[in-house]
Amino acid sequence: MVVKNICCLGAGYVGGPTCSVIAWKCPEIKVTVVDLSKERIAQWNSEKLPIYEPGLDDVVKACRGKNLFFSNDIKTAILDADLIFISVNTPTKTFGNGKGRAPDLKYVEGAARMIADIAQSNKIVVEKSTVPVRAAESILNILSANQRPGVSYQILSNPEFLAEGTAIDDLLHADRVLIGGEDSPEGRAAIEELCSVYEHWIPRKNILTTNTWSSELSKLAANAMLAQRISSINSLSAVCESTGADVSEVARAVGLDSRIGSKFLQASIGFGGSCFQKDILNLIYICESLNLLEVAAYWQQVIDMNEYQKSRFTAKVIESLFNTVSGKQVALLGFAFKKNTGDTRESPAIHVAKTLLDEGASINIYDPKVEKSQIIDDLTNPSICEFPEQVKSRVKIFEDAYSATAGTHAIVLCTEWDEFITYDYNRIYKGMMKPAFIFDGRKILNHEELIEIGFHVQTIGKKLSRPRSPRCWSSKPNI
Ligand code: NAD
Ligand code: UGA
Repeated sequence: MVVKNICCLGAGYVGGPTCSVIAWKCPEIKVTVVDLSKERIAQWNSEKLPIYEPGLDDVVKACRGKNLFFSNDIKTAILDADLIFISVNTPTKTFGNGKGRAPDLKYVEGAARMIADIAQSNKIVVEKSTVPVRAAESILNILSANQRPGVSYQILSNPEFLAEGTAIDDLLHADRVLIGGEDSPEGRAAIEELCSVYEHWIPRKNILTTNTWSSELSKLAANAMLAQRISSINSLSAVCESTGADVSEVARAVGLDSRIGSKFLQASIGFGGSCFQKDILNLIYICESLNLLEVAAYWQQVIDMNEYQKSRFTAKVIESLFNTVSGKQVALLGFAFKKNTGDTRESPAIHVAKTLLDEGASINIYDPKVEKSQIIDDLTNPSICEFPEQVKSRVKIFEDAYSATAGTHAIVLCTEWDEFITYDYNRIYKGMMKPAFIFDGRKILNHEELIEIGFHVQTIGKKLSRPRSPRCWSSKPNI
């Protein structure tokens, strides 16, 4: 079989960009991305795509309506497809057995059942969602139990390694593509079919084939090890703040060792995003289920350190503001979990905002890409707040940073957006209450310059001196 028709179940952060790039690089393959959500598909078919991702608009515009389609007609897409990607969400369970740890596989199971109900010809079914080890077995069980005569399935694992904000570049220049499958003639043939899709733009030497379980576990392992590096450097940032060492200098010195490498050693307010915590919890749950309790405890520490870092940073903000933020105005710059995305899932900014609100502060929020409704949804989510009305009255969302910071006692920088580096901080300082504080949770600002202007500056992993000559200690902004 030569793959001519691809269907992707799930038009999210993975399904949308991944299939857009496949369509762009494989003009002879028809790619249809389907979703249960009518709203999401309508957005994919509109001028304003449902996700912000640099370069994505151009790729979609180049292929949409030619060989790339976004649709709610799941039935036709499955019937026509030779190869089906399952790219649905796998959130952490919020109820029942494994609550707060195990992944909720109901969407993966739902997708498998849809395929079983609809398919009338042979299909290669590709797990692209991040799943626990041996999830492919469950998918195969569902498909086999409902198999029509003459229809056969091959299940492959093809986890996705793209990062948000750089998704298109990551997809075009992937370090590796990983494909796991069954070691049988049919399994090997299916692996070859998927390889031939990627080979349109990925060199064969960068396509790694393994058994299915290694592929599934490698995805969890990669995310766990990336997150572990961040927790490691963040743990050292606390040591730096207490000793006078500078965590950026430490990271540089350590990262120059080619065995360690320099990437993912940026100390921060803590990692966010939809996957690191979810996937480590998934790994921990697997270890606990296998009675590998020491291994589970080891990975749990990566999450605990991340929680500690977020709390430590927020505690420092409050302590610096004379141990109370009650009645104070604080500006939050950045709400996305990292720059170049509008995604706020598990964003550390949510933790900061919630703690400041709990302590009685009013907060002004500005983010270049996050929608106002998303910020309100995040902060009024029942898991975050008990009194949504109170949140609404004490949170204001702004269209630019100058208005967001005007009249505030402090700025807390939560996301490393490039534009934050270029602001006129003299102007911002003039508009703020004095003493004016700035907490750089991403270590991106020029701290010496800010101190020179008159700001009290705090950052991660480095002790900074107080303003040399506090220019103005009146409590009013001097606009
Ligand atoms: P998402 O929530 O953005 O998108 C998932 C989509 O699947 C939703 O739009 C949902 O409506 C749809 N869906 C659910 N069940 C469906 C069904 N039966 N048929 C059709 N559509 C269905 O999720 P995401 O961020 O794209 O993540 C998807 C998977 O990829 C997860 O397992 C995640 O861990 C993994 N992953 C995510 C990233 C990332 O950067 N977000 C990177 C690598 C891997
Ligand atoms: C991460 C992985 O990098 C991807 O390979 C993976 O495919 C994806 O998870 C997934 O499975 O969802 P993503 O979460 O989109 O990608 O973004 P990252 O660049 O990994 O950043 C995650 C968080 O760590 C962000 O909050 C970021 O600010 C933080 N981070 C990252 C640091 O604090 N320090 C660093 O040095 C790097």
